[in-house]
Amino acid sequence: MSAQQLSGSTALVTGASRGFGRGVAIALAGAGASVVGVARDRARRAELGGSFTPVAADAADPVVAGALTDAYHPRVLVLAAGAAPLSRPLHRHTWETFSSNWNTDVRQVFHWSREALLRPLEEGSVVIAFSSGAALRGSPLSGGYAGAKATIRFVSGYAADESARAGLGIRFVSVLPQLTPATDLGAAAVAAYAQRQGVDVATYTENLGPALTPEHAGKAIVDLIEAPAPAGGPEAYLLTAAGLRPVP
Ligand SMILES: NC(=O)c1ccc[n+]([C@@H]2O[C@H](COP(=O)([O-])OP(=O)(O)OC[C@H]3O[C@@H](n4cnc5c(N)ncnc54)[C@H](OP(=O)(O)O)[C@@H]3O)[C@@H](O)[C@H]2O)c1
Repeated sequence: MSAQQLSGSTALVTGASRGFGRGVAIALAGAGASVVGVARDRARRAELGGSFTPVAADAADPVVAGALTDAYHPRVLVLAAGAAPLSRPLHRHTWETFSSNWNTDVRQVFHWSREALLRPLEEGSVVIAFSSGAALRGSPLSGGYAGAKATIRFVSGYAADESARAGLGIRFVSVLPQLTPATDLGAAAVAAYAQRQGVDVATYTENLGPALTPEHAGKAIVDLIEAPAPAGGPEAYLLTAAGLRPVP
């Protein structure tokens, strides 16, 4: 999608009240898109300005996915909402805490990807799902988080394949951010992993390298949308402070 096409289009962002989703919503609004932001909490939405429409809803609810897809026909869909996993070792999880990211993150990507294919969204639309770098290496203090995020990458790839097979021209992409202390979810995880390693948060954070911020995420997502879709298999990218890098 060209910068000109993005400007004036409707973008729907889940998880837009905080963290990466908020950074992406601000960047998309800055690129001229009308942004519909979905989160359960109404706080701080006013700061996003006139081109922003807040919707208070559960992004993992199939009725919400269907109703908002029908109402807004987004050209850009960014699925950044995610549950904050309980930071505990495996045996201190219950099945309910272990599966929380399946019931929010995977459920969300399944329902919205399905709606995008069924409607279908307009040719040239882009659907971006937030997976995680943890999908590549596990996250032993986060229950089922890493497996859920790996499944999101698969679901996005399956949807890309269905789009290609049906000639729909909808681009499905998964993004795998690195762990960062710059969001609520990431800060909780960093604190837990620092404690596990017996180091302070500052030392653990320093070892992670330059911190990925919501602003980096916003810029990277706009750049991704405006870049032509590469030929080949499903698109998946690692996201760090240095930008996007294709996952081998
Ligand atoms: N931060 C990291 O280090 C990191 C690393 C890799 C991947 N990620 C992924 O990146 C995404 C964004 O993470 P973040 O760090 O920005 O998290 P965050 O700061 O905790 O923000 C999460 C956002 O998701 C929303 N949300 C959560 N559950 C929701 C639901 N059921 N329906 C609608 N909105 C919901 C929250 O708003 P409400 O609570 O108001 O609903 C909030 O806006 C997540 O998918 C996360 O797994 C993060």
